[in-house]
Amino acid sequence: MQALNFEAHGELDVLQFGEVPDPEVPDGWALLKVEACALNHLDIWVRRGWPGLKLDMPHIGGSDIAGTLATDAGNWNTGDAVVVDPGISTRQDAWTTRGEDSMSPGYRILGEHVRGGFAEFVAVPLENLHPRPTCLTAAEAAAPLLVGLTAYRMLVHRARLQTGERMLVIGSGGGVNSTAIQLGRHLGAEVHVVAGGSEKAQRAKELGAALVVDYKTDEAWHKPLFAATERRGYDVIIDNVGRATWKQSLRLAGIGGRIVTVGNTSGPLAETDVRFIFTRQLSVLGSTMGSHADFAAVLELLERGALKPIIHCELPLSEGRRGHEIIERGEMFGKVVLRPDY
Ligand SMILES: NC(=O)c1ccc[n+]([C@@H]2O[C@H](COP(=O)([O-])OP(=O)(O)OC[C@H]3O[C@@H](n4cnc5c(N)ncnc54)[C@H](OP(=O)(O)O)[C@@H]3O)[C@@H](O)[C@H]2O)c1
Repeated sequence: MQALNFEAHGELDVLQFGEVPDPEVPDGWALLKVEACALNHLDIWVRRGWPGLKLDMPHIGGSDIAGTLATDAGNWNTGDAVVVDPGISTRQDAWTTRGEDSMSPGYRILGEHVRGGFAEFVAVPLENLHPRPTCLTAAEAAAPLLVGLTAYRMLVHRARLQTGERMLVIGSGGGVNSTAIQLGRHLGAEVHVVAGGSEKAQRAKELGAALVVDYKTDEAWHKPLFAATERRGYDVIIDNVGRATWKQSLRLAGIGGRIVTVGNTSGPLAETDVRFIFTRQLSVLGSTMGSHADFAAVLELLERGALKPIIHCELPLSEGRRGHEIIERGEMFGKVVLRPDY
């Protein structure tokens, strides 16, 4: 089959599009014909690699999969349209028993630890299959999966965002951030956003942001935000940018505020003035992916139209390198979706 793959970690030039062996399908798994698979920043990290990451090469990324059953499997019939929960549970333990699947050491991510969907075919566990929401195209169904799951756990279970609270999202056009803006509004929060450029600021407003500041034109962007909260600061801050924005996030958190981090797009090492944490009694919360129940909840929101997929562009799989580049350069507002060139 054809796949976007790499045989060694590195920059964009390690990505190749070409023939690889068809996937093996273990017992309890199904073979899917991929119709659409969206990119995440995760695909950039995995392509670059990190100490301790050991993958079977060639590796195929891609966590956000919409496709059809290539053969009958379990209770599914050939041709059934499905989406795939990107979180794979490989063991039952105390975490999975209490519904915290992504905390289990046995939790794996499709496209990270396991070959993913940037290919004509992919093998996935039967238990990860869900019917595709009927109102969505394949690209629309693929786009919000991993980021929807991440945003759901981050806001609902970790931040426990409440109606009427003020939330700040640091960054606008990324998959997680554009989803967090929507979900924050859906949960009844007043959402403020830090956006890179006037076009992205406009898009964030269209998603329901009450106030947007542009970090590219105003280095002191935290000042108008602090003023807008009557100098009280925010109840919840979503910061997956890391090094470039962490100091401002600490400054902008209000008394009893919760800062949630799921990532570090600009770098992992950031200075923390701990006085902000103890004097304002802040909580710094980490979050990763979500549970299988969270995934089902996200699909329900998509089915109801409460969460809308945001697609920056669709590209043929053979142009996947361009997709990686769009994300590396931060050009996107929403998701880049790759579609196999059948
Ligand atoms: N732990 C998990 O389960 C999990 C799940 C998903 C993602 N992540 C991580 O979370 C991060 C975001 O993922 P993604 O796929 O949404 O990435 P992405 O699509 O590449 O988004 C990057 C985001 O960072 C913002 N940004 C970059 N530099 C900024 C700056 N200097 N100031 C303010 N905002 C800035 C961008 O805002 P603009 O668009 O406004 O420029 C954009 O919203 C990545 O690091 C990813 O690895 C973790």
